[in-house]
Amino acid sequence: MSTATQEYQAVFAGKTRAQLDEILTRYPAKQAALLPALWLVQRERGWISDRSMTEVAEVLGLTPAYVKGVVTFYTMYHQHPVGKNFVQVCTTSPCNICGAEGVVRALLEHTGAKDLGATSPDGQWTVIEVECLGACGFATPVLINDDFIESVTPEKVPELVRKYR
Ligand code: FES
Repeated sequence: MSTATQEYQAVFAGKTRAQLDEILTRYPAKQAALLPALWLVQRERGWISDRSMTEVAEVLGLTPAYVKGVVTFYTMYHQHPVGKNFVQVCTTSPCNICGAEGVVRALLEHTGAKDLGATSPDGQWTVIEVECLGACGFATPVLINDDFIESVTPEKVPELVRKYR
């Protein structure tokens, strides 16, 4: 890889910088805009690298360690590249009792992702387990990108995967 391709290209430039500036007008202090600034990075790059975290820290007047602490706290921020469809499955006890593990197995099989956190060879799918999604009465809830899908069973997985493929 050449040095030129290794050079970091700032996220907050041009249109994205203008979007950040608009976001900053909604907050009394720029530090308070950390979460939407991180969303902006993730939307532009697909994930948030350490270098991007440093850029966010510089722009918002925070330390890189503080930004990293926030990124690593929330499962919705990606610290490495993920598939086009990011799938989160609740496997906390109530959903587990109702068969969440079977849903996870079916998703790993039908998406081709094979392992939790891995991305399918076609770059389409990454599946992870998460804690309670707040829909315990509708096991098993699954988030595919921004879509919340309730009452998923292993039998429903092939159709679900077809829909998003
Ligand atoms: S335990 Fe699965 S949604 Fe609450």
